[in-house]
Amino acid sequence: MTPSGSSTSTSIEWDYAPAPESAAIGRIRDRYQMYVGGRCVDGRGDDVKTINPGTEEALASVSTASIADVDDAVAAARTAYEQTWSRMSGTERGKYLFRIARGIAERARELAVVETLDNGKPIKESRDVDIPTASAHFFYHAGWADKLQHAGFGPSPSSLGVAGQVIPWNFPLLMAAWKIAPALAAGNTVVIKPAETTPLSILVLAEIIADADLPPGVVNIITGDGDIGAALVNHRGIDKVAFTGSTEVGKQIQSSLAGTGRKITLELGGKAANIIFDDAPVDQAVEGIVNGIFFNQGHVCCAGSRLLVQESVADEVIEKLRARVATLRLGDPMDKNTDIGAINSATQLATIRSLTDAGDAEGASRWTSPCPVPDRGFFFPPTVFTDVSQSMRIAREEIFGPVLSVLTFRTPDEAVAKANNTPYGLSAGVWTEKGSRILGMASAMRAGVVWANTFNRFDPTAAFGGYKESGFGREGGRSGLSAYLDTDDEFVGESPSAGTISAVTTSRRDDRSHRVRGTAVDTAPAGTADVSAEAATLAVAERLSEAEALADAVEGVASVDTADTADATTIPGPRVGVAKTYKLYIGGAFPRSESGRTYPVTDSSGAFAANAAQASRKDARDAVSAARKAFRGWSGATAYNRGQVIYRIAEMLEGRRAQFIDLLGGAAGAAGSAAARDVDLSIDRLVQFAGWTDKIAAVFGGANPVAGPYFSFSTPEPTGVVAAIGPQDDPLLGLVSVIAPIITSGNTIVAIANRSRPLPAITLAEVLATSDLPGGVVNILTGDPAEIAPHLAAHGDVNALDLTGSSASLRTELERAAAGTVKRVYAPSRVPDFTREPGTARMRAFLETKTVWHPTGAVSLAGGSGY
Ligand code: NAI
Repeated sequence: MTPSGSSTSTSIEWDYAPAPESAAIGRIRDRYQMYVGGRCVDGRGDDVKTINPGTEEALASVSTASIADVDDAVAAARTAYEQTWSRMSGTERGKYLFRIARGIAERARELAVVETLDNGKPIKESRDVDIPTASAHFFYHAGWADKLQHAGFGPSPSSLGVAGQVIPWNFPLLMAAWKIAPALAAGNTVVIKPAETTPLSILVLAEIIADADLPPGVVNIITGDGDIGAALVNHRGIDKVAFTGSTEVGKQIQSSLAGTGRKITLELGGKAANIIFDDAPVDQAVEGIVNGIFFNQGHVCCAGSRLLVQESVADEVIEKLRARVATLRLGDPMDKNTDIGAINSATQLATIRSLTDAGDAEGASRWTSPCPVPDRGFFFPPTVFTDVSQSMRIAREEIFGPVLSVLTFRTPDEAVAKANNTPYGLSAGVWTEKGSRILGMASAMRAGVVWANTFNRFDPTAAFGGYKESGFGREGGRSGLSAYLDTDDEFVGESPSAGTISAVTTSRRDDRSHRVRGTAVDTAPAGTADVSAEAATLAVAERLSEAEALADAVEGVASVDTADTADATTIPGPRVGVAKTYKLYIGGAFPRSESGRTYPVTDSSGAFAANAAQASRKDARDAVSAARKAFRGWSGATAYNRGQVIYRIAEMLEGRRAQFIDLLGGAAGAAGSAAARDVDLSIDRLVQFAGWTDKIAAVFGGANPVAGPYFSFSTPEPTGVVAAIGPQDDPLLGLVSVIAPIITSGNTIVAIANRSRPLPAITLAEVLATSDLPGGVVNILTGDPAEIAPHLAAHGDVNALDLTGSSASLRTELERAAAGTVKRVYAPSRVPDFTREPGTARMRAFLETKTVWHPTGAVSLAGGSGY
């Protein structure tokens, strides 16, 4: 600090002397090439100039790709994958990643300068956050390369192949590290495209990669605009797509990849609420608000762009906030004292101006920091809007600039409702002294990351990613790794071989026959199991054939009224059964289809069995609203309670075992034993998933050993309402295998039954209705999936789709519709063999990961990443 001599008052004004970092450290060259197949190559597109947003001067020329270059890069990645990288041991792969981590650390100062010159972010942020955290990501993932079998995805998880990755301009090198490091650790090769305005740091990374002797083609870097990005993600040679950027482009990518079966992860926009309660430590909270929205000029997808402050402290917080913001130094990004650097591009500056103008027009009150704004360069002063209502664009849209919208609330419930009132769900902040409130709020936030009494903390060990339209998939931690592994295989405590399953089944049958006599299964003498099972089956068959004889006798006389047995004129004869109308199952009730339409369905022998309801659009909507209504209670129930309820369903199914065997084909012959096996496995599946409810958090969550004084943990949460097309081959076992893993974690479901044989599904609904399952947790629709599913896929209140039972053509249409609201889609490449695959992959597919951060001990408010 130096005293300013210009003051005419007697007090001394203190100001900061400029402390610019030297641009020469960046060693910026005149021109940069792309990096393909281990060589620096010229792209066949036109050269473009990259601009220093702090000065508006050109920094360097950059060669860009043509479509043919995308082909070359993908081919190079494929060759490297097949010939080298996928065959290399994890230990060797890990050592390459360590080399890259070290290379970044060794050239950290140069990289920080390059990043700041090209991006406009303050040098202290590049130096203290971006570059060290990028290095840490390679370091962390290097350690995974030889331990993939310990990551919880089975004994030998495999890589996917070639990853196509597109990254944005707000954290250029850090996003490159987030994408490349896990991909390589898992054994994939990559083609990555940086944003058009920030290509330089990743091209310096190319030098580091070359110096590390990484085999040619393992990492390929192509430059260019959105068209090149689109060509890359749609390239047929790509096995996995990872994108970070705007929600709009994310939706386009999800839609264009519909039906391709390619794995996608999307990290999209956000509109995070930063919630300040009246008992919060106000000075710390003000620092947190400033860090939340003004870090990196607000070019942060998880920025705390909506401040929700409790009404009783609103005036105090806003006054202190303005006073603090007025001290932020805006200007030369290369100056080590600068807090707020340049907006990345003229285009982004125009976006920020247009959205803030909309704030004025809609009646919000704008306050702008009185800081001087440089004449040259793209700068926007820190801005705070008050008198903001939820419907205003500045409260709903991602501004991606140093602009804060302030709203108030009175009660915690109101804060939750306002915070969650957004299509986004990336992050949230909570400031309060009350520990119980922190955890309560953390659990109520529909957001992938919740920071408590802190904000904008990142760590490679802590999963990061969004709920809802903020995208799907995680980066960092075990969840991030799973995005680059083929984890569709079954794992953890399951019976992979048919032999094991039949053994399990046998002992369960044995259990049943012994239970009748009050004897525990493990006391059964060896060798008696098959006999008693067979005896039980025979007994069932006998009872069933009696019933069939009776049914045959009454066939054709169903209209005879046998009820009035007192009528002396009645001719005695066999009793006529009451014909059953099969309806839908919605919200715990059995309504008829609103369409009034039915269609004939057959039994297992192909004979007419009944008319089933053809669900309509209205039925689909009713089912979704029932599932949505049930979600809160079901997801909020304790794991123990959910387990009890699912176990109770198993009990009820057991009680109706003979009926279901009959429905599936009777007890006789080969069809009979298949029917009995399916019913038995269905019961077992429910038992199995009843036991998962209280294991999910432990198996898929965990503590994150982040750097710095924070306690951080990740915990799985249900995705929400799942719409599923039940398998078309296994009318009972398939449906149970879809429903059980989905509801076990707290999701609710709208399931479309097997079209041609829906009766077991609706009979299953009777079991559900008489168990303790709350109405609406499971809803079952019958009819043509092609007619019903598009309504579900387009419904804004459905969060995810399970397309296991979908035809290939319908699948593409549904996946495209899902992109409209960034729904998670689970579409296994083949219909599982449900006798062998219980569905843990499905269970995982409908889990979100929430990461919570909380400071421990004394909290330093200084910036820095902890590395
Ligand atoms: P963008 O989403 O268009 O660009 C991000 C990346 O995607 C760039 O590499 C771009 O070349 C590429 N891209 C563009 N169109 C593509 C396509 N059709 N297929 C494949 N790749 C494509 O973001 P943009 O235009 O730079 O910024 C617009 C707004 O997006 C910002 O105002 C901000 O609100 C948001 N944004 C959010 C980010 C985040 O991290 N959530 C990052 C960047 C922007």
